[in-house]
Amino acid sequence: MTVLVTGATGNAGGAVVQSLADAGLPGRALVRKEVALPPGIEPVYGDLNQPDTFADALDGVSGIFLLSGYDRVEELLANAVRAGVRKVVLLSSSSLDSADTSNAIAAYHQAAEEAVRASGLEWTYLRPNSFMSNTLRWLDQLRAGNVVRVQFPEVPISTIHPLDIGDVAVRAFTGDHAGAIHRLTGPVALTPPEQVAILGEALGRPLTPYPMSRAETHADLQASMPAPYANAIESFFGDGIIDETSVNDTVTQVTGHKPRTLQDWTRANARLFS
Ligand SMILES: NC(=O)c1ccc[n+]([C@@H]2O[C@H](COP(=O)([O-])OP(=O)(O)OC[C@H]3O[C@@H](n4cnc5c(N)ncnc54)[C@H](OP(=O)(O)O)[C@@H]3O)[C@@H](O)[C@H]2O)c1
Repeated sequence: MTVLVTGATGNAGGAVVQSLADAGLPGRALVRKEVALPPGIEPVYGDLNQPDTFADALDGVSGIFLLSGYDRVEELLANAVRAGVRKVVLLSSSSLDSADTSNAIAAYHQAAEEAVRASGLEWTYLRPNSFMSNTLRWLDQLRAGNVVRVQFPEVPISTIHPLDIGDVAVRAFTGDHAGAIHRLTGPVALTPPEQVAILGEALGRPLTPYPMSRAETHADLQASMPAPYANAIESFFGDGIIDETSVNDTVTQVTGHKPRTLQDWTRANARLFS
């Protein structure tokens, strides 16, 4: 079992790389620049939007951990079939569990799920809640002071630790998870001000959350990303079209361990905020 991990320098892909290494499994990390990798993981250089740049690296690969939203995914999947790859674990999204999938974020995840299903490869879809690593979006504010402006302050979210996504992905590659759609949550739902308090404890700083109004949140989102994505996020958390508050036991069921907490993530990553 050799797994090619896409997005290997990111929060989710990096966690899959770590979980593979922790399990003593060999892997290949698709990267665009030289990076340090754990033992047993070798780099593959290529562009996820250009599947021909890493087609040769699929030889001997049995599984691919795939991110959604990149160009020419059908070509990548055809290359995988030709190379004898058996399985794809796709990182999808909670947005596909909504009754309303008419938004830009659900659209690209839906397209990826459909392409993987059509490829004929064995598949497992992971539909996680928001990641604990999204806490890093407050980094610039924390460099400026101790006040943290938070969007959708009244919405509790059971954010998930990326390493739990990594552990579930490894189980999906090594166990019988063909055709499974794993909806993944963290252990507890916390409002953004509660998340700020936990981060403050880990950093040893008295952080003060500033609850942004809906109008402030709207302006902030529209200024930071293309409008279709900003609108999608407003519909998720402002209009409540997705449920990231409920907690389920999928991580425990699949991995045999409890989901990691935000305290775990903030303690392990406190150095990133200095
Ligand atoms: N964040 C959330 O709350 C959340 C929730 C549900 C689903 N998701 C999904 O999870 C995905 C990954 O999130 P993340 O936080 O892990 O993202 P991230 O930390 O930004 O990582 C993105 C990864 O993709 C790589 N990449 C980007 N463009 C590439 C290209 N053209 N060719 C090769 N590699 C490329 C990046 O490599 P470089 O280091 O070279 O840039 C990086 O390794 C999101 O895009 C989203 O679809 C996210």
